[in-house]
Amino acid sequence: VPVRDIHHLGVAVDDLDEAVETYRRLFGAELEHRESVADQGVEAASMRVGGGRVELLAALGPDTPVGRFLAKRGPGMHHVAFEVADVGAELELLAASGAELIDERPRRGLFGLQVAFLHPDATGGVLAELVSRG
Ligand code: CO
Repeated sequence: VPVRDIHHLGVAVDDLDEAVETYRRLFGAELEHRESVADQGVEAASMRVGGGRVELLAALGPDTPVGRFLAKRGPGMHHVAFEVADVGAELELLAASGAELIDERPRRGLFGLQVAFLHPDATGGVLAELVSRG
């Protein structure tokens, strides 16, 4: 699958305000967007860090994907997001090549992006996200 860039790294955090402030103070990161998505159980802050981007993710409750991740592993690296031209088209290529997908089709992700996740078993234990601009 042709990847344009690493779009962002996703990091699970316990306290979003504190994490935003830490990235600002330590790395000069700037808050790009902040959004709460109730049906995904997550509040996220997209931080510009130099030419890159870190997506800080806090759980809206324990029984959410990020909440379960935090309970199991604690705060830390959650996923890597690869930017592609068209998530739908790339998903078909990945499915045809036998990659294990979490999302069979693109869905609306944070910040108006089209996204889909691959199963960590497909990528050596790292949750991978495909992103294209909505
Ligand atoms: Co992401």
